[in-house]
Amino acid sequence: MALTAALPLTSVLASNVREYHISAAPGRAALAGKGQPDTSVWCFNGTMPGPEMRVRQGERLRVKVTNQLKEETTVHWHGLRVPNAMDGVPHLTQKPIAPGETFTYEFDVPDAGTYWYHPHQRGFEQVGRGLYGPLIIEEREPVTVDRDIVWVLDDWRLLKDAQISDDFGNLHDISHNGRLGNTVTINGRDPDALHVRTGERIRLRLINAANARIFGLNFASHNPKIIALDGQPVVPFEPSNGMVVLGPAMRVDIILDMTEKPGERFIVTDNFYKRLKYRLVEIVYGPEPLRNAVPDTPIALTANALPEPDLKSATRHEIRFNGGMMGGMMMGSDPDSRKNMMKMMREGKVWFINGVAASGHVMDPLITLTKGRSYLLDMQNDTAWHHPMHLHGHVFRVVSRNGSPTPRREWQDTVLMAPRERVEIAFVADNPGSWMFHCHILEHMAGGMMGVIRVA
Ligand code: C2O
Ligand code: CU
Repeated sequence: MALTAALPLTSVLASNVREYHISAAPGRAALAGKGQPDTSVWCFNGTMPGPEMRVRQGERLRVKVTNQLKEETTVHWHGLRVPNAMDGVPHLTQKPIAPGETFTYEFDVPDAGTYWYHPHQRGFEQVGRGLYGPLIIEEREPVTVDRDIVWVLDDWRLLKDAQISDDFGNLHDISHNGRLGNTVTINGRDPDALHVRTGERIRLRLINAANARIFGLNFASHNPKIIALDGQPVVPFEPSNGMVVLGPAMRVDIILDMTEKPGERFIVTDNFYKRLKYRLVEIVYGPEPLRNAVPDTPIALTANALPEPDLKSATRHEIRFNGGMMGGMMMGSDPDSRKNMMKMMREGKVWFINGVAASGHVMDPLITLTKGRSYLLDMQNDTAWHHPMHLHGHVFRVVSRNGSPTPRREWQDTVLMAPRERVEIAFVADNPGSWMFHCHILEHMAGGMMGVIRVA
């Protein structure tokens, strides 16, 4: 006992390495449903989504990635606090993986929760064609449930022959709300039903892998309780109007108690876009109850050990988002910066962070932070569109919206901003390196909505 306790932590962890090998290549998936042809996709290991990786909190993950595409790629571990060199951002943190080559990622996983992995090279097409997979970091003390289910949600733009429309990165999608599709899938297929039993308790891990679609799920007469946002535990709560909202790249873990009677059926709907409500999937109760009532065991998760920002000493940075269609009115009154933005928009650079539209992953940092200090980003969305803003390498607290403190001060790695909304986030810049800060509507990102935050 005394002997192992004296070992340096890293070597104890290093002995517990979980290894995966994934290969990015063309494949096929039954996206369009029964009676329809399969769809050509790009995917990892021939499955869509890619293989689910499961690691215990505190273990080390090693993933060999082989590129069998005809173009370069990388893999980013969305939401995980990894060392900068393992972050998977082409040219900024690594040389992209060339066709035929293999790159090995290896890092410790500090935080439990629901995460996902996806390329960061031409994401609007590589992720859009199906390259991604779930990454689950299991808690040391998980909550007790009957089933732990992962739903990776995606949205596809399919043509009549069930093939993917290849109009990736067109200027209309870039300048509006991104590539919205016409076919929604759960775990890469047209969902038929979720079969459940009365009295059952399910932990449902939702991952939004869509390029652009925001989901607002409603579970009919069931009352989902949110226990984690972006993998990070929250004090369990029921979302307002029962609607579980996920912007692109966001994750929500819910506890779904099956409180209805055997033999009954319910429809899960997506109500996010007001006039575009549709049925996602059916909940079907089996004839036999599992038990008479749902369990009343605790559902709160233990928080991850995240560094707590000190708001009193935090340095404030203002960040302004401009651009997009119907954004001309909101570009500020400085004639030179207006003129510059209008000129860039004509060249396909449509979105601006503090007046700058990115044209690649390598650029001058938007801001440079000092390692170990607390920061508050005061973000103003001066556009007519939603933006899920994602910061790499860190997890931040969402501290206010439109000047009002948030009731939960939730930890997130991606925060959904409504049109014209102002959101303040706070974090400790404890992870040195150059980190992407970008909109996760992948067409907005391609249209310039990305920047680098450097921690020195
Ligand atoms: Cu999910 Cu910069 O990525
Ligand atoms: Cu955006």
